[in-house]
Amino acid sequence: MPPAPPLIEPDRLAAFVDALPIPEVARAAGKRPGVKGQIPFYKFPIYEFFAKVHRDVAPTRFWGYKNSIPGPTIETRSGSEIAIQWTNLLPEKHFLPIDHHLMGAEIGVPDSRTVVHVHGAKVPPESDGWPMDWYAPGKSATYRYPNQQEPALLWYHDHAMGINRLNIYAGMAGLYVIRDSFEDALNLPKGEFEIPLVLMDRMFRTDGQLYYPVGQLVGYPWVPEFQGNSTLINGKILPYLEVQPRKYRFRVLNASNSRFYFLSLDNNAPFQQIGSDQGLLCAPAAVSRLELAPAERADLVIDFSEHRGKNLLLKNLITTLMQFRVANTPVADPSSLPQVLRPVQRLAEASAILTRRLTLEELDNLVDEPMVHLLDGKHWHDPVSEKPVLGTTEIWEFLNLTDDTHPIHLHLVRFQILDRRQIDVPARMYHNKLIYMSDPSQPEQNEMGWKDTVRATPGTSTRIIVNFGGYTGRYVWHCHILEHEDNEMMRPYEVMAKS
Ligand code: C2O
Ligand code: CU
Ligand code: CU
Repeated sequence: MPPAPPLIEPDRLAAFVDALPIPEVARAAGKRPGVKGQIPFYKFPIYEFFAKVHRDVAPTRFWGYKNSIPGPTIETRSGSEIAIQWTNLLPEKHFLPIDHHLMGAEIGVPDSRTVVHVHGAKVPPESDGWPMDWYAPGKSATYRYPNQQEPALLWYHDHAMGINRLNIYAGMAGLYVIRDSFEDALNLPKGEFEIPLVLMDRMFRTDGQLYYPVGQLVGYPWVPEFQGNSTLINGKILPYLEVQPRKYRFRVLNASNSRFYFLSLDNNAPFQQIGSDQGLLCAPAAVSRLELAPAERADLVIDFSEHRGKNLLLKNLITTLMQFRVANTPVADPSSLPQVLRPVQRLAEASAILTRRLTLEELDNLVDEPMVHLLDGKHWHDPVSEKPVLGTTEIWEFLNLTDDTHPIHLHLVRFQILDRRQIDVPARMYHNKLIYMSDPSQPEQNEMGWKDTVRATPGTSTRIIVNFGGYTGRYVWHCHILEHEDNEMMRPYEVMAKS
């Protein structure tokens, strides 16, 4: 075999030569019977395609939804059910390094399996994308999405056990938007002035093909995290966007495997954050540096009227991600940025019937095998231990005994962050004692809304409060660093019927 071509260094690529693409909006293929009459029915083939990530880079092979990375955006209304048929039309052999030691990725299981999950959606368990319910090439699954939830920017992505990190890396992710008339009435920037920004870090070889690293230990390709040197924004490296001097709404998703972003404008001008994972905040929060962990979303308003005729850069720390070219001619801006958005009723701690203390820990006592991260010391196949009762409220307290921040995500529900507090890690690790080392600190204003993914910071207790409404049945909760999730940092949980 000829040696693989070297990696692309993005600093050597011409900057701002590609316009920022906007993913197309998916169109329904027809109607089918739903719970209340006929509902829109979508067909999503999942297959291999080639796409240009940059003017000067040869087309890249991706695996994804229809012909684009990210896939087409699904637009829905709160309360209106839709159905989607997800069809696996992938080639039989995977093009990224599968680690057959991982749970669910054993030899003999089809390489190119997939199952789709809509992240943040409140759906019955049979439509949630249980990681073991994957389908092989030629097979499909039809899921229904009731959309009985408040407007939010959700996203759909692969969830196949043991190769989730590879499938999403290959391109399997797209946006899913829920809207309602309350939000419409706020008159936020809309249409061409509402722009999604999907961030995915990657590495490419000079022939344009995706590179994903393999681990040091022979025979164990799994790596504990992935940090790419290029960031795709809506599928392009270093794109530009021409904007008018007026307000824009940006719907930002971190769809990266492991990377955390710290977003700012190069002039450090603050922008307004109006929403987080599960919808609008109660009021805009001024932010000049926005932290986004994998799977987190932010809804932003940037007013370019203050920057007429200038070029602005969107940065991740010192790295440039994209350019905004602000036109010089003033325009009328009929949109608004209301100072009151959507009421967020804070859940009272007293409404919780119990607190579950759940550790996040690292296990690497095996000399010849890579380490694993575990949730509460348990593996995926251990018996279900989190069994909330339908309609009840619980506090989940994550005790992070590791040196990494883990973005913890629960399927089915939305939650609120209560507080974070330093803990004595050795006391917990070696003596099973919980000793707080600081007073609880409240989340920042932009973390006070509804969430579905929370950053559990190192050496910290992070408490969330959750009402388990909706459906009974089996779901999962996990770390959204995909490399962790694929290697045991995922657990089932089950919502039980009231007895
Ligand atoms: Cu983004 Cu299990 O989800
Ligand atoms: Cu999810
Ligand atoms: Cu993790």
